[in-house]
Amino acid sequence: MPVVPAVIVKEGFAVNIPLDKHSQTPIYLQIRDYLSRLIQSGKMPALQKLPSIRALSTSIQVNKLTVIEAYSLLEADGLIHARQGSGYFVNPTATSNFTLRSTFAPSQEVIISQGGGAFFEQYTASIQARQQRDIVDFSSGFPPTSSSDNFQRVAKRAFTKAGDILFQEDFPQGQISLRQLIAQMLVQQGLEVLPDEIIITSGSQQALSLVMQYYLQKGNGDWVIVETPTYHGVLGILENLGAKVIGIPMTAGGMNLELLEQYLKSHRPKLIYTISTLHNPTGITTYIAHRQALLALAQQYECHILEDNAYEGLNFEPVPAPIKALDTDDLVTYISTFSKTLMPGLRVGYIVVKGEHYRHLVKQKLLNDLHVSTVSQTIVSEFLASGHYRRHLSRVRTSNLQGRNVMLQALERYFPDVVSWTIPKGGLFLWTHLPDYLPIQAICREALAQNVLVASGAAFFPGGGYPAMRLNFCHTPEDIEQGIEILGRLLKNYLTPSFLKYQGFPLASM
Ligand SMILES: Cc1ncc(COP(=O)(O)O)c(C=O)c1O
Repeated sequence: MPVVPAVIVKEGFAVNIPLDKHSQTPIYLQIRDYLSRLIQSGKMPALQKLPSIRALSTSIQVNKLTVIEAYSLLEADGLIHARQGSGYFVNPTATSNFTLRSTFAPSQEVIISQGGGAFFEQYTASIQARQQRDIVDFSSGFPPTSSSDNFQRVAKRAFTKAGDILFQEDFPQGQISLRQLIAQMLVQQGLEVLPDEIIITSGSQQALSLVMQYYLQKGNGDWVIVETPTYHGVLGILENLGAKVIGIPMTAGGMNLELLEQYLKSHRPKLIYTISTLHNPTGITTYIAHRQALLALAQQYECHILEDNAYEGLNFEPVPAPIKALDTDDLVTYISTFSKTLMPGLRVGYIVVKGEHYRHLVKQKLLNDLHVSTVSQTIVSEFLASGHYRRHLSRVRTSNLQGRNVMLQALERYFPDVVSWTIPKGGLFLWTHLPDYLPIQAICREALAQNVLVASGAAFFPGGGYPAMRLNFCHTPEDIEQGIEILGRLLKNYLTPSFLKYQGFPLASM
């Protein structure tokens, strides 16, 4: 096979990157794997500066986006980090992080469709499962239910302070006090906004609906870009609007930027929907260079971005500021929610949007349902103002991190080698990628018969895709251990030599 050796020469050190342009392995993965080996073997020592994106792309003759993708993955693997304005450096802890490296590298196929998906079925199945106490529900995208005295105390104090406000109608954009508190919270995440650039919505699901309706004309057949897989609740909205969906595949470092550029150029979509931090369903967080490149592409092709940060605040380690923080042209609309951190039943989410878009969306909000419940807004305000929210988040993150680690260990122990998974740096779930020959629906049915609820990952694709499962790790260590053991056994049952031979596949390692 033709191998093109490339040489990076940077301030006294030279590296050969043997790129095989005809290989099945994409170039960005070849670069990542090569540099990863250099770093882990110590040939690129701690704090060594990597070649700049421009220098490397010129010397090995690849697109700059390819290098950004490779560096994003190395960053996601914990091997390198970016320093503002100075470039990329090898992490001092690069070797010790090796065991947490994700092997998630799905095939990169673009999906063109009309939205749709099985959100309704999956959502209702998950709500039903919650009412059955003896089921381990790995399928849900929500935090565990817990009624705490703390909540009742905070709510009581909120009601006493609020007085008459609770009985009155409110502005469509929501209470000013809550918008001020959200603006303060966002500043700490690197996003500077004014209270008058925030609209409180009934969960972020309503935010998604309002924003999608604003940017995409119903029945116009507008093109929209989503990541694949993506949050299935969006696919139904797009189907209702009659939008045409371009599903750009996720790599372990975020949406595939080279494919994104191709489709921005060829289809001129109106909107890119991205979950940049703790992506649903993969749990992946993109890094600064990826965010900058995505925004630059949107600017170049005059396309709006809808950035959904529903899992905001659930990160186990620092995450970069949202894409919205880099936006100087009002191209990005940002949404988030308190459903994943506090309580989905409160139905409090919000939109951050500037300029002329703000007024239009406030008007739509009024027409939709006047305003969000004042009772819910008042409770969230009290959580934020009293500092309880910060303490609550810290407890939730600690417990979620424990759940994630227990699940990763259980996956290593019980799942067959042919399954790969992501290693999220926060959130509530991880994503497993199964080989095509495993009958995912049958496995879900068999798991349910043993009181383990998992859903096929098919719902997160607008059609097509690959067999996968999103697994919620917010459970007790015992439930995780038991549930993953059951799933692992079911998967292995299908990997017997006779099954694989019957399917016409080569024998897989078990
Ligand atoms: C990425 C994402 N966005 C939005 C939502 C909607 O959440 P809510 O309406 O409860 O705020 C969800 C819920 O699962 C989600 O995962």
